[in-house]
Amino acid sequence: MMRQAGRYLPEYRALRAKHSFLEVCKTPALAVEVSLQPFQAFAMDAVIVFSDILVPAEAMGLPIHFGDGGPELPEKIRRREDVDHLRDFDPERDTRFVPDAISQLYRALGPEVPVLGFAGAPWTLACYMVDGAGRDGFPDTKRMLRAQPDVLRELLQRIARNTARYLQAQLAAGASAVQLFDTWAGELTREDYDAFALPALQQLITALNPGNAPVIYFSKASNHLHASAARCGATVLSVDWRVDMGELRASLLASTGRVWPLQGNVDPHALYGAEPAVRAAVQSALAQTGGRAHVLNLGHGILPDVPVESARAFIQAGQQRIESAAAALIADAVAVAPLAPGKV
Ligand code: CP3
Repeated sequence: MMRQAGRYLPEYRALRAKHSFLEVCKTPALAVEVSLQPFQAFAMDAVIVFSDILVPAEAMGLPIHFGDGGPELPEKIRRREDVDHLRDFDPERDTRFVPDAISQLYRALGPEVPVLGFAGAPWTLACYMVDGAGRDGFPDTKRMLRAQPDVLRELLQRIARNTARYLQAQLAAGASAVQLFDTWAGELTREDYDAFALPALQQLITALNPGNAPVIYFSKASNHLHASAARCGATVLSVDWRVDMGELRASLLASTGRVWPLQGNVDPHALYGAEPAVRAAVQSALAQTGGRAHVLNLGHGILPDVPVESARAFIQAGQQRIESAAAALIADAVAVAPLAPGKV
């Protein structure tokens, strides 16, 4: 569930009444507590560490404020010297709280429940570093792309280099997989994605991954980009609700020759519906993949005002589907067993 822990949970709101968002991110005991809240409530199959994609931006030297209107970075990147002033940070020292939270989660959950680490993809992080906040269309970042393309390339490379080390530290601390969030990839034309976002992603994933850890790549509003995204080096593509995952899988099979594991893609607004409608939305997502090589997920962040019972219905519908698939396999095995005496 994207934004697995968050404001839809009363226990999260109670903790946030006492601590700021960044304080929770930077205090491993608090980050672990909120990471475990949804697991304790719903027992989903994996737990994502509580943090934010902007943590590395701060470690690279840009101050961050989380206000009611979302994150703000007042010292925006404008020119080459701003990029030159960014720090290459040491994740084991400067963002020690992230690997610490992951290793504590690993100790609490054991290998049976995978812990996921994450970071922002270079393009999406650059959007916040250049525009200074979430702005419609990210006009300053797009202006930089046209007017100072080499500066943007340099910024993307810096982010890629730092993010590779940041995610390596998360894997070393016990994360079973890492997810890259490219929320604003869909702002780009395919040509610009191929020229700017994709090379930085490839650089990041190549540097990250001598050990072949699974990398999940999420992009939003990116139907026009998936064929390119499939070249980024990720293991799993995570997609939003605009995508028909059956069609995507067929077209990726044709272009890459492999069956792509997919993650997604229930519309977060489906959780405003009554429970039967939530279950129907889950069934329709699973029907697109036949439930094979599919990580059930929301197509974007869970909305802060959905009922907790809708979140529960979402998780349960996915888990029941898995149980019924297992039951069908057992029934098949039992039906076949008398024909093959002596074989289990
Ligand atoms: O998924 C998870 O549970 C892990 C934690 C997580 C958060 N943010 C916690 C959070 C993850 C993976 C993110 C990723 C993130 N952060 C993205 C990429 C994915 C996406 O949602 O598009 C982006 C673009 C950000 C930057 C960011 N952080 C924004 C735009 C906001 C404001 C969003 C809002 O709904 O108001 C945040 C704050 C944030 N990050 C919250 C949470 C739980 C809300 C914080 C609060 O007020 O308590």
